[in-house]
Amino acid sequence: MTCSRLIMLAVMGLAYASQSLAANDLARGTEVFNGTCIACHGTDGSGNLPGVPDLTGSKGLLSIQDAVLLKRMADGFQSPGSPMAMPPRGGDPGLTDADLKAVLKYMRKEFQSN
Ligand code: HEC
Repeated sequence: MTCSRLIMLAVMGLAYASQSLAANDLARGTEVFNGTCIACHGTDGSGNLPGVPDLTGSKGLLSIQDAVLLKRMADGFQSPGSPMAMPPRGGDPGLTDADLKAVLKYMRKEFQSN
């Protein structure tokens, strides 16, 4: 077997691994959203309760940088004058940082095109 063939195989393996990782993320994100976030944010992300912002649209809140959103999701967040706070980790301390990344990915995919 030539060296370039080995490299090709390695590259194909990596591409496969990263594809299935992305699919896992999305599956986990769906699970987290439906288990925890849906109560306030609604099935379509437009918000179920007074004080819960509409997360839909390509220029909406989900277009804020990852680092900012992930920190607000992890620590909780209340904007000035808002009648309700976003609870830390949506009220589920069992959610990991990887879960929050996965759910952010899910929300962007589902809600930014609404
Ligand atoms: C108890 C209700 C509730 C639950 C459960 C909840 N949220 Fe929120 N969320 C809010 C409220 C209220 C705000 C707006 C807070 C404000 O602006 O004062 C918000 C805001 C947000 C924002 C926008 C942040 C910003 O920069 O304006 C994101 C993103 C978000 N939530 C993600 C999530 C995720 C992910 C989950 C599940 C893990 C979740 N929320 C669960 C009530 C909730």
